[in-house]
Amino acid sequence: MKSRKVIALGLAAAMAFSLAACGGGKASKGGSSSGSGKTASGTVANKDKPVVWYNRQPSNSSTGELDSNALHFNDNTYYVGFDANQGAELQGTMIADYIKAHKDEIDRNGDGVIGYVLAIGDIGHNDSIARTRGVRKALGTAVKDGDSIDYQAVGTNTDGSAKDVQDGKVDGVDLKIRELASQEMKNSAGATWDAATAGNAIQSWSSSFGDQIDIVISNNDGMGMSMFNAWSKEKKVPTFGYDANSDAVAAIADGYGGTISQHADVQAYLTLRVLRNALDGVDVMTGISKKDDAGNVLEEGKDYRYDEKERSFYALNLAVTADNYQDFTDSTKVYDPVSKQLSSDKKKVWLDIYNSSDNFLGSTYQPLLQKYDDLMNLDVEYIGGDGQTESNITNRLGNPSQYDAFAINMVKTDNAASYTALLQ
Ligand code: BGC
Repeated sequence: MKSRKVIALGLAAAMAFSLAACGGGKASKGGSSSGSGKTASGTVANKDKPVVWYNRQPSNSSTGELDSNALHFNDNTYYVGFDANQGAELQGTMIADYIKAHKDEIDRNGDGVIGYVLAIGDIGHNDSIARTRGVRKALGTAVKDGDSIDYQAVGTNTDGSAKDVQDGKVDGVDLKIRELASQEMKNSAGATWDAATAGNAIQSWSSSFGDQIDIVISNNDGMGMSMFNAWSKEKKVPTFGYDANSDAVAAIADGYGGTISQHADVQAYLTLRVLRNALDGVDVMTGISKKDDAGNVLEEGKDYRYDEKERSFYALNLAVTADNYQDFTDSTKVYDPVSKQLSSDKKKVWLDIYNSSDNFLGSTYQPLLQKYDDLMNLDVEYIGGDGQTESNITNRLGNPSQYDAFAINMVKTDNAASYTALLQ
């Protein structure tokens, strides 16, 4: 390891010398902007530094259309997230399978209707939209809005008259399924995916039609656990979430119905790895589809997929239920195939988390990032936002020249330009 570092430093010195000899301390396009991290920080223009968007894909929050400008900001720009549709389908199937396996006891009040309530994270977030659609599709409650499934919240629908959903059915179960209520969990200050709001919602839903609720479903575990702790645990009503946060996985032993792992261990790795590769001036697939010198490698198709046109890496999801939860108890454990130390030189990364109190990002993603940043020799400055206003975060990127690369998690998926403007 030591000797590789010395060689790298030797190269850096030689390169700095040859650049100076060419008459300029400024990095040439082929030199640093396309990724040679061997050039000292400060000589690369901010607009040429590696950028990774993660968790919130630059896109139009009403139509879902990807923001191609942001995704192609420069040659070293990528998005890292997970396959929202594949995960959403898994979540829906997991719940449908649960209904089939428990059809004889699931209808708690015996009214012939399996009633569920749904906590929506952020009506304009593509992960949230996909999950709402995935659940409605699997339970037969989906209605079409044009070509795609309606993902609006219904408010209260105990009488089955809402127009954004219909009564559904799953194969082999002779009971009607009804979305009794759904709501976007946004607090009055504007924070979305808000766990406390979900806890309040289940209190009010359960006090007006509690005996009709047979299943509680949530777009994520943060809200799911809040509802579980406030009501469904005691009532023994199966509750389903998403993210496989450690507390939710542990709660499966106490009756939490299940969750989906979005492979945060792979995502957190990819988030930093694409930056590291760009800074080292090596192929972006190093340590991803191609084994690196330390032996790190992922399996395409099993761990992730890559879409070149979208410049996006998508981790693949896994269902976590009573059958397998023992394998998922620590959500902050690094993924074994990519757990080996790199020997490259230290680089400085600016990274923000849109909301410092987001359960998934705070309890699962950030601890993983903090383990990988050591393994990749990245000195990461973590900035936590308030979940409501972009400026609360962008104000803290006052001097981009201090950093070698940027990892960005937006408050709203439409707002990529508020960040890229600072790097122009
Ligand atoms: C996660 C949510 C999280 C959201 C934040 C989603 O991918 O599943 O738990 O709140 O990202 O953007």
